[in-house]
Amino acid sequence: MMPADQGGLPGARIPIWDLPIRLFHWLLVADLAGLWWTATHDDLALHFKLGYGALALLLFRLFWGVVGSDQARFARFLKGPAAVLRHVRHMAAPGPLPVERGHNALGGWAVVVLLLVLLAQVGTGLFAVDDDGMEEGPLAHRVSGSVAKLARRLHHMNFSLIQGVVAIHVVAVLFYLVVKRENLVLPMVTGWKRLTLLPDGEQGPKDARGETPGGREGHGWVPLWRAGLLAAIAAGLVAGLVVFA
Ligand code: HEM
Ligand code: HEM
Repeated sequence: MMPADQGGLPGARIPIWDLPIRLFHWLLVADLAGLWWTATHDDLALHFKLGYGALALLLFRLFWGVVGSDQARFARFLKGPAAVLRHVRHMAAPGPLPVERGHNALGGWAVVVLLLVLLAQVGTGLFAVDDDGMEEGPLAHRVSGSVAKLARRLHHMNFSLIQGVVAIHVVAVLFYLVVKRENLVLPMVTGWKRLTLLPDGEQGPKDARGETPGGREGHGWVPLWRAGLLAAIAAGLVAGLVVFA
């Protein structure tokens, strides 16, 4: 589809990811790197702390998916099989993709898979005991030794799954960049996307700064205090789990 078909106005900027989602994403990436490093370099004390951080991040993302900014909400980006198939057909067809103001129909389900495998990793870690029985997750004493060992095995196996899912995730992002000429990474850094096309039926920007109608007010991002409150609740829940385990 050519830009003219969509009434596209190249150069317009549209808001995609709010600060909480961007912070969530890059803190998660850094946290996972630390979790891998500490696990493979036998620093389980730090591994546990980073693991609690991962749990707090994931809890926050679940909350944000319900009461966060428009683009972050599960109800907005989880779509049925017809929408997923439509997106796959667009991916296979030559030329650019229709403009999305957040996750596309396929990417939305990829988010669910990523969140689930990460939650499973934290969940098994909480019950796991290490190979010599010296260190254990805060909930391991609540289950039998064999269940704690099973949790450890699942924790190891699931990490391979995480590596596979993350590899697919990064390859998908590169596919959009190289084949579809769609830079998804920049919005995950700056929050904004520069349009080459406008979504079907949408008006072009009316102001001189080249922003969409409604400008910054119309971006669907909720106030940051709400994210702060939810982050504090998530951290409080994790602290409660660790203290009262
Ligand atoms: C440990 C590695 C990674 C994990 C666990 C991870 C996880 C995630 C998750 C959960 C989301 C969904 C965001 C949300 O709605 O909350 C996401 C989106 C995204 N990630 Fe990652 N990510 C990783 C690495 C990367 C890397 C290395 C890049 C850059 C090359 C990247 C680029 C993106 C982009 C561009 C999106 C938005 C996709 C879209 O526009 O739909 N990620 N990632
Ligand atoms: C997303 C979060 C997490 C990731 C990616 C992760 C990753 C890993 C990896 C890769 C290993 C295995 C290292 C090896 O092959 O020897 C490991 C071991 C372990 N992790 Fe985690 N972990 C996470 C969260 C947690 C949490 C929350 C806890 C508990 C509070 C935990 C407790 C443990 C324990 C007890 C081991 C066993 C060490 C051993 O086998 O000797 N992990 N983790």
